[in-house]
Order: sequence, then C-alpha cells, then structure tokens
Amino acid sequence: MKREPNQDHVFYRNLNRFYPSIQRGAGVYLYDTEGKAYLDGSGGAVVAALGHGLRDLEEAMLVQLGKVAFSHGSQFTSPAAVELAERLVNMAPTGMNRVYFLSGGSEAVETAVKMARQYQVDRGKHMKFKVISRWTSYHGNTLGALALSGHTGRRRYYQPLIQHTPHIVPAYCYRCPFGRKQESCDLECAGDLEKTILYEGPDSVSAFMAEPVVGATAGALVPKDGYFQKIREICDRYDVLLIVDEVMTGIGRTGRNFAIEHWGVAPDMIVCAKGLGAGYYPVFGVITTEVVHAAIKKGNGNFVHGHTYSQNPLACATGIAVLDYIDRHDLVARSAKMGAYLLEKLKTLYRHTIVGDVRGLGLFAGVEFVRSRETKETFDPTLKINALVSNLAFDKGLIVYPGGGGADGMRGDHVLIAPPFIITEAQLDQLVAILDEAIAEISKELDLT
Ligand SMILES: Cc1ncc(COP(=O)(O)O)c(C=O)c1O
Repeated sequence: MKREPNQDHVFYRNLNRFYPSIQRGAGVYLYDTEGKAYLDGSGGAVVAALGHGLRDLEEAMLVQLGKVAFSHGSQFTSPAAVELAERLVNMAPTGMNRVYFLSGGSEAVETAVKMARQYQVDRGKHMKFKVISRWTSYHGNTLGALALSGHTGRRRYYQPLIQHTPHIVPAYCYRCPFGRKQESCDLECAGDLEKTILYEGPDSVSAFMAEPVVGATAGALVPKDGYFQKIREICDRYDVLLIVDEVMTGIGRTGRNFAIEHWGVAPDMIVCAKGLGAGYYPVFGVITTEVVHAAIKKGNGNFVHGHTYSQNPLACATGIAVLDYIDRHDLVARSAKMGAYLLEKLKTLYRHTIVGDVRGLGLFAGVEFVRSRETKETFDPTLKINALVSNLAFDKGLIVYPGGGGADGMRGDHVLIAPPFIITEAQLDQLVAILDEAIAEISKELDLT
C-alpha cells in the first residue's frame, strides 16, 4: 500500500517517501508505532551488530551516565577511553598500538587521511599528500571522504566541490576490470595500484585506502586471496601507508575481528567501526601503529586535528560494553558460522534469473541483480531494481540495505544483508524466504521469470 510522504518538520532523506515511525526494538526485530514487526536483516546500514533493546548495553551506558557523560578530549582522558583503546589494540593485528576515537565513519576516514599526511610531514616527507583509493568504494559523505569514495551517483551533485584524488580499479571478480576468469587472474587489479603510484609519482603519495570487503557500493565484494598481500607489498615498496576502511567490516562482521585478518595483512591504519557502538551510541576509531604515533609525537607533538566528541566517555563506555557482550557470547565466531549458513541459503536465490551473483564473508553478504545472467547486463538504473526489491521486502517485514552503481558508478543493483550476530538459523530462513518472495514478485512484474 503506497502512503503519503510524512508531513512534519523533519528534513528526511527521501522527501517523497513515507517513513513508518519506530517505536522499539527487541533482538533482531524492530517494531513501528502501528505494531508492525520488521526483521532487521541489515542492522540498519550494517550498524546493529548485537540486535536491539539489549539490557546489558542500557545498564553499562547508565553506569557511565551516572559518572560523567561528557568531557572534552583537549582536557581529559577517561578510564573508558583508556580501556577501550587497550581492548581494540589487543584485537587488532600485531604492531597496531594507538587509537584515536571519533563519532562517525566519515569523520574517522578523514582523520586517517590527515593523520597519514601529518605523519609524512613530521618525518620530513613534505611532498607526500595524495591518497589513492578505488572506484566502486564508499568512504563517507563528507566532502573529503566523498573525494575518496568511488561512486559516481553519490559524487555527481557535489563534483565541483570535491577535490580530485586518484582512484584505481576495484577487486571485482564478478565483473573483472581485466576480463579475467579465476584461473587466469594475475591480480592485475592490485597491480593497478603500482601503476598509479608510478604515474602520480611515489614521492607525492601518502596513503592507499580500501575497504577489505566492499560494502555499500557493491554488496560485499570479497577480493581474491592474495590481493591484499600484493597491495601491502606495493605500499611497502613505495613507502605508502595502507589504510583499511573497516567502518562496515570491523568488529566481527566478517567472522574475524577485522576483515583484513582474513589475508594475514597488517595495515598501517584501521578505520572502524559501525559495529563498535552497534547502534547504541556512535563510537569510531582510527587504530594505528607506534611508528605513526611516534613520528607525530617527535615531530609537531600535537596531532593538528580534533572533534568535539573525540574520546567521549559515554561513547567509549558503550564500545567496551559492546566488546564485553561480543566476548561473553562468542559472537565473532558466531558471525563466521551463521554467515556460512546465510550464504548457502542465499544461493537458493539463483533460482531467479535476475540474481547474477551471491557473495559474502561472515554475516556480510550481497546479492547482485542482472538483466541477463549470461551477459551480466545491468538493469537500466532508472528502474531502481535494488530499491524495488528492498521496498517490497520492507513492506513484507524485512529490512535489507539496497545499493546501485557497483558496475560502473551508475549502473548495477544489489542488496546488502548484514543481520545482527545473534540471529538464529530459523530467523535466517525467514530472512531468505521473504527476500525470495520479493525477488519473485519483482521478476514477475518485469516479466523476467
Ligand atoms: C566503508 C565505509 N566508510 C565510511 C562510511 C561513512 O560512515 P558515516 O556514515 O558514519 O559517516 C561508511 C558508511 O556507510 C562506510 O560503509
């Protein structure tokens, strides 16, 4: 049933859409004020890693609120910030030793860019400033983060405001930019980084940034084994920092603490993670090495940067409570196990001809839609197939996260599936059954059954 757009004073994301009003959440379900239940199959936008309405989180946050909610990072540290930093360092690959806290993903991405730049200047490499990233990527919507993001649809309006930065091809096996098959793959997509560094001039390149598994712009693109190892080698060869953007993948989402661990690679910075606050409070961090920290300490001594909610005690206490909950319930292992189950179930969707590719790692999965499975032809973007499927699923009580533009910046449709780690097999069955129904109905409407 189509309903009129909301008529209140809120400036909504889509000004022509009706948004139901949320009332409460419990476990993997959300309930609107009319009592309708929604299975949160994507944790909103890959945020609600633990599910909704957790008492443990409420209590831990209230304890911190009872002590102090806010102190400014230029004036105080806090036991919560110290403990959370220690916990994150212990979870991260060896050598990572310091955490800078923030309150949003884009803010954290830009912090990493500035930290890399200041590191280069403070150790005397004044010319190193460029950050190379990839097409078919998303690093955030603020102008600096959008400059790195490789998504034409999101950049278009703001193009005149966006600084030009170099982008390389994505590691997109289903649509290999070099037309390779798995057997003939020589990781030319990683080699593109070397070429670009050489074109740009190694002396001018500060860092390379990539999502270990691409989220919003392509729906869980998992690179081939060896890709990130080769990227690490190239970065080392040209004295370029490797920054992994784990805003979606960090804190257990792919079945490891950090997705980059799947390939045994130690980056210079990890930007993380929606799952750290898990939707209870925003808390993000840039985790970096002692080398970067020491260079800035010895150089300027100040990191010339800062945000009002950096190191916020309530945010950090929330992060600790999330990590406690994950440890107590062994949820990283659960994400790996339930993710394998989810992927098998999702493969049944191949019965629909519009399903071109099903992929994922842990509880982070994507379904890509195509007009023709043989040619991988994309749908006309004005059809908005990803929105048609996800809107219909939403009407049927399932939330998945739609996206487009993966194939070339404008074309390509997928939905991202990233439910809370506590989800059960029966609930995953329900998730796939509703998605299957929605795809069947859309296929029928398009006469593509
Ligand atoms: C990989 C990645 N980086 C950065 C961001 C930006 O985070 P935020 O929306 O909190 O600014 C996102 C958001 O989806 C993301 O997926």
